[in-house]
Amino acid sequence: MSATALHDLAHGVTSADSLESLWMPFTPNRVFKRAPRLLASAKDMHYTTVDGRQILDAAAGLWCVNAGHGRAPIVEAIRTAAGELDYAPSFQMGHPLAFEFAARLADKMPGDLDHVFFANSGSEAVDTALKIALAYHQARGDVRRTRLVGRSRGYHGVGFGGISVGGIDNNRKQFPALLPAVSHLPDTHDPARNAFSRGQPAHGADRADALEALVREYGDTIAAVIVEPVAASTGVLVPPVGYLERLRAICDKHGILLIFDEVITGFGRLGAPFAAEYFGILPDIMAVAKGLTNGSIPMGAAIVRHGVYEGVLNGTSSGIEFFHGYTYSGHPLAAAAGMAALDVYEQEGLLTRAASLSEYWADAVHSLRGLPHVIDLRNLGLMAGIELEPRPDAPATRAYDVFTDCFAQGVMMRTTGDTVALSPPLIAERHHIDQMFATLGRALRRVA
Ligand SMILES: Cc1ncc(COP(=O)(O)O)c(C=O)c1O
Repeated sequence: MSATALHDLAHGVTSADSLESLWMPFTPNRVFKRAPRLLASAKDMHYTTVDGRQILDAAAGLWCVNAGHGRAPIVEAIRTAAGELDYAPSFQMGHPLAFEFAARLADKMPGDLDHVFFANSGSEAVDTALKIALAYHQARGDVRRTRLVGRSRGYHGVGFGGISVGGIDNNRKQFPALLPAVSHLPDTHDPARNAFSRGQPAHGADRADALEALVREYGDTIAAVIVEPVAASTGVLVPPVGYLERLRAICDKHGILLIFDEVITGFGRLGAPFAAEYFGILPDIMAVAKGLTNGSIPMGAAIVRHGVYEGVLNGTSSGIEFFHGYTYSGHPLAAAAGMAALDVYEQEGLLTRAASLSEYWADAVHSLRGLPHVIDLRNLGLMAGIELEPRPDAPATRAYDVFTDCFAQGVMMRTTGDTVALSPPLIAERHHIDQMFATLGRALRRVA
């Protein structure tokens, strides 16, 4: 890039040349670079664009900035950590912050989820969780348990493990060779019976019974089932009443490990610290990321129940028990950011704050009923999915147009397919919620 192009980019002037080198993830690069949206700074509920516009963040960045942006204690903790210990190897060596953070997390977790394996993203947390599940059965001599079960429309990141158990077709179609022993449960979406449900839909607990059918087909070869308690990235699919309970019961009956992918639902999104607590169901392994550091430094983790940790460790009498890990597992800056994020969450009551706003939120979401093209509204905690009727022959374009209209009006949301998704920082006030839904209402009326 030329010096002029770099200067222009830094000052909010963009040209095709200044944007060309970056290959953007999950983005139509050519379209974006013709009309870019560039963010320069952020504080609390707002971003500021490179050309100085204030944008209300209705997406917590990418479902991750749960305590809002630029929180001073987190910034300070990262600065201090960077000045003290830039890096420490994570294999056969350690540093106190990683142990301290793991202990604090273990303390916060429900039940006996008391051992923490650090990764650097949600995708890595998921792959770690899947590998732990396989290693657990191998260590116990249950060597036939090698099959992993995911769910249609599930999103578990972009590693090969995650896309194998994931169920979003677009994320798999360019990669024909995935993990071999994988099956999928049906998703829980049932618009014919459940459209416009407020909170958990009434119908569909029996979709968990597909796991019984898989057990009949594959016998005792199933190692683990992984689900998002609320399937977020696919368009906010809230689990039907009784569904997760049934999944847990079937797993227990057949010796299958249950993995909750709480990369989005973890750290207060539903009004309880974790979805496991919100629904009162304890998984054997939980994957977390995003809110773990308030989005400030990349970090993920697989957190396991006591017996899972013991099971893997007891599989060998000496030496390395689990052949897995990352150069940056438990990185000092991430551990410092995570502990500071926990402090902020605790001091401000953010891990349960969504509960006090969720009725107001639900009213706002369902006030959109009857607006043009709205075919379903879904909500739980501080999450919402507004599903629009797809345009004939142009799926996903209507929601995208609503998203760009809202952004032009000063509110950032997300879209996935023809669903607009909202998940604001948990510090949101009622007037922010009013602004989000007023903006969305105007956009829905405008977009054909
Ligand atoms: C449920 C879930 N799992 C895993 C991931 C992957 O996380 P990352 O993008 O940090 O790899 C995401 C990301 O949105 C997610 O929503």
